[in-house]
Amino acid sequence: MVVPGPDHIEERERVYPPPEELKADAHVPDFSSYLALYKKSIEEPEEFWGNVADEFYWDSRPTAGHPILQYNFDVTKGNVFVKFMEGAKTNLCYNVLDRNVLERNFGDRVAYHWEGNSADHQQDITYSQLLKHVCRCANVLRLMGVKKGDRVAIYLPMVPELVCSMLACARIGAVHSVVFAGFSADSLCERILDAQCSVLVTADGVYRGDKLINLKQIANEALERCREKGSSTVQKCVVVRHYALRTNTGEASNKLQTPWDAAVDVWWDEALDGVCDECEPEWLEAEDPLFILYTSGSTGKPKGVVHTVAGYMLYTALTFKYVFDYHFDDVYWCTADIGWITGHSYITYGPLANGATSVLFEGIPVYPHVGRFWEVIEKYRVSKFYTAPTAIRLLMKYGREPLLKYDLSSLRVLGTVGEPINPEAWHWYHEVVGQGRCPIVDTFWQTETGGHVLTPLPAATALKPGSATLPFFGVQPSIMSELGEELEGEAEGYLVFRSPWPGIMRTVYGNQERFETTYFKKFPGFYVTGDGCRRDKDGYYWITGRIDDMLNVSGHLLSTAEVESALTEHDSVAEAAVVSRPHAVKGECLYCFITLKDSTEFTHTLKDELKKQVREKIGPIATPDFIQNAPGLPKTRSGKIMRRVLRQIARNEKDLGDLSTLADPKVVEVLFSQRCEAAA
Ligand code: WTA
Repeated sequence: MVVPGPDHIEERERVYPPPEELKADAHVPDFSSYLALYKKSIEEPEEFWGNVADEFYWDSRPTAGHPILQYNFDVTKGNVFVKFMEGAKTNLCYNVLDRNVLERNFGDRVAYHWEGNSADHQQDITYSQLLKHVCRCANVLRLMGVKKGDRVAIYLPMVPELVCSMLACARIGAVHSVVFAGFSADSLCERILDAQCSVLVTADGVYRGDKLINLKQIANEALERCREKGSSTVQKCVVVRHYALRTNTGEASNKLQTPWDAAVDVWWDEALDGVCDECEPEWLEAEDPLFILYTSGSTGKPKGVVHTVAGYMLYTALTFKYVFDYHFDDVYWCTADIGWITGHSYITYGPLANGATSVLFEGIPVYPHVGRFWEVIEKYRVSKFYTAPTAIRLLMKYGREPLLKYDLSSLRVLGTVGEPINPEAWHWYHEVVGQGRCPIVDTFWQTETGGHVLTPLPAATALKPGSATLPFFGVQPSIMSELGEELEGEAEGYLVFRSPWPGIMRTVYGNQERFETTYFKKFPGFYVTGDGCRRDKDGYYWITGRIDDMLNVSGHLLSTAEVESALTEHDSVAEAAVVSRPHAVKGECLYCFITLKDSTEFTHTLKDELKKQVREKIGPIATPDFIQNAPGLPKTRSGKIMRRVLRQIARNEKDLGDLSTLADPKVVEVLFSQRCEAAA
């Protein structure tokens, strides 16, 4: 079979109908069923969501007479709010564990096949084991004084204790704030302070590929920084003995030699030892907060996106079931890290709510060899596989060879998330990984949306490579012009949503005003995604990328302001401007323009220092690829940096368009002459 590539334009425009063999037992077997359910979700939300809610356990039902979804999206009419199932009480942990063990008899079913960084580290965890572990952890948190509403920071690699500590928080009504374990001490400190967390859960150390990361040391530095700022609220730091226990490499376990503060630090296993494995859940209001997850914001300060209990539970459960067309005998694998929303919704909550068996993968795609993903798929007979375009592009580089060694016949549905998927990657995923047999669900969503909002359904939606296709149930997308007119039919503009669905964020932690300004101010009455979008003649949605100051590096959003502020903290830097530049694997990468203070020389050492500075302030994902000396930056007369011009310089695009607002046109010539050709 020919693998369609850039030269196969007609192939690219082909529409891929859903495979017949999926239809027989699919939850949504054809397009007309999708349309009927979609119509019901919009016109009869009480009935639609009421039916979904019936599958869950409620300690008390919603207040009679209230609409199931109450909201205001119009800033001109008062505060923006969303309330779902007001008056109902439930517990998410109870629903994803106790209900599965007690009511559905899934106690012995594997919840997670944990697959370590190294292929010989693995562990199966059943639903009843997970329940007991979670209860013990929840009891420990309670013993430490953690109460309903208190915040707990979790800074862990992809180990079972990560899921466990999230669920323990959910059980007692504490609000978890998971911080991706690739973030720096500064980033961790900032997040701990913003949410005023009282407990931090971390690990001694972890291998990512062959690189050992001393997580406890980074956590120590973060806590030290919090203390320096005079406001550390962390009373206890619980440390999972992951490196010492599981990373069985024959090294002395004290190789890390991390300082230990007996007043604060406690080992996870010692804390849980002998603690009761039953724990009464806290019955929470539907709108009580479940977790905070930070996402980049255009001011540079991350926003604490808040999700609440009932709406998030129902939405992640339902999207998981329909979008992956989940069935009892599936083995599901999402390769994301739980430190991002994808892991929260589609490794922890969505799959567990369905009683699914998932792979929990600690490793990276290319260690110890470039066939690791395919090896794991074969090993566990994975049927539903969910990954990111950046991972696909990375693995594409190694060709078909690494896949040929493995049996991928178990695969049924493939998913992608995080950024627009380019047609080349789509076709490779479809033909080479899915052997032409598996539909690709290109799921568009955001930390803020809680779950998929634009997505195909495997047996119902015909696919067009590169399009996230159509809205999920309850979601009403619209395309808006710059002037705030809703565009009909074929159109391109801002992607907005007209009304809420249960899983949408409720506020920015501690900053309702920022919530309203960021998402609702531009077009009153609408939630603004920050993405550009095109709707084609068939009503299919095509995300065209961010239209704000956000970059998407390997499927993760970074704000240019955040990177700029990390750069300007360097003593030699007077000013910095960061723009995106296309990158073959990462999608986008960072191109930084640096104006130095007088009498400072632009040297290699300085470039290295700047890269290090960004890594330390934010984390390795934000490492700049290009750093260019910029004696001056293109600015308007009012002093605003013209980023459009910088983006074109970074891409070496000579056609700069209208430069009449530029204060000093000579700056542009100088910048072109000093462009970086090769990465720093
Ligand atoms: C981008 C990740 C195109 C988009 C779940 C969005 C996508 C941002 C897709 C959110 C997709 C995510 N096609 N673009 N299928 N999925 N994006 O908050 O720009 O980390 O606004 O959530 O990723 O990133 P976040």
